[in-house]
Amino acid sequence: MHAPLEALRLFHLGCAAGSLSLFVWRGVRQWQGRPVLHRLGRRIVPDVIDTMLLLSGLSMVMVLRQYPFVETWMTIKLFLVAVYIMLGFVAFRLGKHARLRRAAWWGALLVFAGILAIVRVHLSGYF
Ligand code: HEM
Repeated sequence: MHAPLEALRLFHLGCAAGSLSLFVWRGVRQWQGRPVLHRLGRRIVPDVIDTMLLLSGLSMVMVLRQYPFVETWMTIKLFLVAVYIMLGFVAFRLGKHARLRRAAWWGALLVFAGILAIVRVHLSGYF
């Protein structure tokens, strides 16, 4: 495959791994009763990584011409990404009660697994 595209895919993959790791870390800290309070770990680093994940994804959409609302897998993936983002908001910012936050956190992890599954099915040539 074209080297710059391969680099972009690797970068996207790295951002996905970073996003998941931070999500798990912040959740575990929250359940341990010592949530991440400093702005760098709570907002700046996660926001930068998630923005890069989105931008690298959008760049690949353009390069590979795998447009959402045209390609089924991309439509499903984008929908799941939106749900992942919303559940993340509930888990760390909006949820009023610990139970709701925890449910949203587990839900987001499930949705993340769903995103990986969709990518895998797509890459194995189904759609
Ligand atoms: C939580 C968010 C996301 C996760 C976990 C994720 C994960 C992945 C993974 C694991 C791959 C396969 C990389 C490889 O091994 O080649 C991939 C590819 C891709 N992703 Fe994402 N992604 C996310 C968000 C996005 C977004 C927001 C977009 C677009 C707006 C996007 C567009 C793409 C495209 C176009 C590919 C290339 C598929 C191909 O090679 O045919 N992704 N993503």
